[in-house]
Amino acid sequence: MVMFNFITPGRIIFGKQSIGQLGVEAAKFGRDAMLVTGVSALRKLKVLDRVEEDLKKSGIKVFLFDKVKGEPDLEIIEECRDLAKKNKVDMLIGLGGGSVIDTAKAVAGLYNEKGSCREYQKGRKIEKCGIPFIAVPTVAGSGSEVTYNAVILDREDKIKRSLRDFSLIAKLVIIDPLLSVSVPTQVKIRSGIDALIHAIEGYTSLKANQLTNSLALSAVNLIYTNIREVAYEENNIPVHGHMSLGTLKAGMVVANAGLGAIHGIAASLGAYFEIPHGLACAVLLPKVLEFNKNVCGLQYYHLLQALGEHAENLSINEVSDNFIVIIEKLMLDLKIHFHIERFEISEEDVLSIAKNCSTSINFNPKELKKEDIIDIINSVLCK
Ligand SMILES: [Fe+2]
Repeated sequence: MVMFNFITPGRIIFGKQSIGQLGVEAAKFGRDAMLVTGVSALRKLKVLDRVEEDLKKSGIKVFLFDKVKGEPDLEIIEECRDLAKKNKVDMLIGLGGGSVIDTAKAVAGLYNEKGSCREYQKGRKIEKCGIPFIAVPTVAGSGSEVTYNAVILDREDKIKRSLRDFSLIAKLVIIDPLLSVSVPTQVKIRSGIDALIHAIEGYTSLKANQLTNSLALSAVNLIYTNIREVAYEENNIPVHGHMSLGTLKAGMVVANAGLGAIHGIAASLGAYFEIPHGLACAVLLPKVLEFNKNVCGLQYYHLLQALGEHAENLSINEVSDNFIVIIEKLMLDLKIHFHIERFEISEEDVLSIAKNCSTSINFNPKELKKEDIIDIINSVLCK
């Protein structure tokens, strides 16, 4: 057995109506909280009103930051951090999707630091512990609630980089599957497929270990067997519960096993085309599975079984081919495109996308040369 270490949030509360425990639990961390959320969806659903009321009832003064729109950039992190410091808050609460949670996580983690977010994102060490951070995901997918990195867009360099430090991990996570029920179908699909890729890439990652492997296979099963119903049956509450559990497990896999070429290339491809993270990953999924297949036969056998599909008495090639075909069928069912519209992209731009891949690519089970990355990028661009 290989030695491994495993990081996870201080506490996870999971289940229907668990959002009702936020006030009481948050009060244990102090009296002033900055509540970070997205632009309007939660307000429309009255979730925000309910959460604010609950926090106030527990004696917490709430400072609302409701400007997160799309994936966070450096500017929004600095704006939120300035406001949090000005009001001397005791904690950050992220209530929303992965972008909101990453914003709250980054601000809490850098709260006591003097430098700019950009400096830490580029490698400066975080010296002091930040303030407590509570994650309340409302979308089943990113797994950001259990990871210790925040993905932040640098618009100037047109690149997404991770701010990463063990100290960024949440003190408390509350996952109430009911919050994810009313999320728009397209968001459910791209977040769900992202989580499925977390589990698949985490399972084949060079950093995988015994614990992440058992979580990954279980996550693949939970996500694959429920994602269609989650997308198209809003009133089917049990499937949303299974999905939330699956994406939580997939998030724990990402935090501890790393990812691979899909996320490595998607970080750069998504930033260049400004397309949502889940879609950038999904479009690369079949191509990277194909690229890795001659070194991942046994893993694909286990993954095929985790999908609930027949894997016995097949040759290793048949196993790999079946696995990829089933994933492609899932993408068709979810109406996910297999290509990105090419627009006018020069060879130099393709080269620069290839150059800006994130470090996730280092954990891919098969080494990628520059030409391999360029081939994969070209294969997902519409001719
Ligand atoms: Fe992802």
